[in-house]
Amino acid sequence: MVKSLKILARLSGIAGLAGLAFLAVSSSAFAAGSTPAALKKGKALFAENCEVCHRADAIGEPGVAPSLTNPELLALASDKYFAGTIRDGREDTGMPPFAHLGRGNIRAIVAFLRSHAVGPNMAAEVDSQADAHGDPRLGQQWYDNICSTCHGVAGDGYEAGGTGTAIGLPGFLNKVSDGFLRETIKKGRSNTRMLAFQGPAALADLNDQEIDDVIVYLRQLAKTKSDE
Ligand code: HEC
Ligand code: HEC
Repeated sequence: MVKSLKILARLSGIAGLAGLAFLAVSSSAFAAGSTPAALKKGKALFAENCEVCHRADAIGEPGVAPSLTNPELLALASDKYFAGTIRDGREDTGMPPFAHLGRGNIRAIVAFLRSHAVGPNMAAEVDSQADAHGDPRLGQQWYDNICSTCHGVAGDGYEAGGTGTAIGLPGFLNKVSDGFLRETIKKGRSNTRMLAFQGPAALADLNDQEIDDVIVYLRQLAKTKSDE
């Protein structure tokens, strides 16, 4: 699977747009909805319902709403993640639920967001990664030292005055896999304040085990909150 995706990614580089179009069809459950008419509809629905917070072209604004069109999010997020987040919103954050729009309209918005993708969607592979195992106490130390400045001490995000989203709340965590968290922490998100936390150029170069420790801590944090 890993290998075939890598080959596909390479092929799409060679074949250019034709390759990308092929990937879009093969990897997106909503490909059938991605007609020019659906995209136009999705764009209009986005302008009407989302742009006030997520801004034009969904580039986001720190402390207001995250970017929905950065390449890392589009590569990691499944259509199910997008549709579910739009439908349910995120409790205790500024992201309202949009279930009233109905499935067809939500699907059109997802297709519009997807049209900004520059590479293949890796969600299936990322979501099938093994769950994180580690030490939540060590994870908390990393979290408190590095992440809490932007995401809030308890992971409450903007509510705590941070520029990052509410990554300690069930509204986010219940919808993502550990693979999604792992890859986001490793790679960061281009053109946002979310930096990469692995590699020589990273703000802090965390190894795989340290990243898993942070993930285990986040999961624990959300569990404490839903028990409250
Ligand atoms: C300098 C500020 C900053 C720091 C430090 C930071 N983040 Fe972020 N993070 C952000 C922002 C901002 C976003 C959302 C991107 C956007 O605004 O479009 C984000 C997004 C995320 C997301 C995706 C959340 C979502 O809603 O999809 C995860 C997961 C995440 N960060 C984890 C971490 C972890 C773990 C750490 C510590 C190792 C960390 N971040 C440190 C600013 C930061
Ligand atoms: C009133 C402001 C507001 C509106 C309107 C709004 N959002 Fe959001 N949205 C947010 C905030 C704030 C967050 C981050 C919540 C958090 O801190 O976890 C968010 C998060 C998201 C996320 C998760 C992104 C990620 O990085 O994981 C998606 C997807 C999303 N919104 C889609 C939409 C769509 C599509 C619409 C329109 C149908 C919309 N939003 C309308 C404020 C808004």
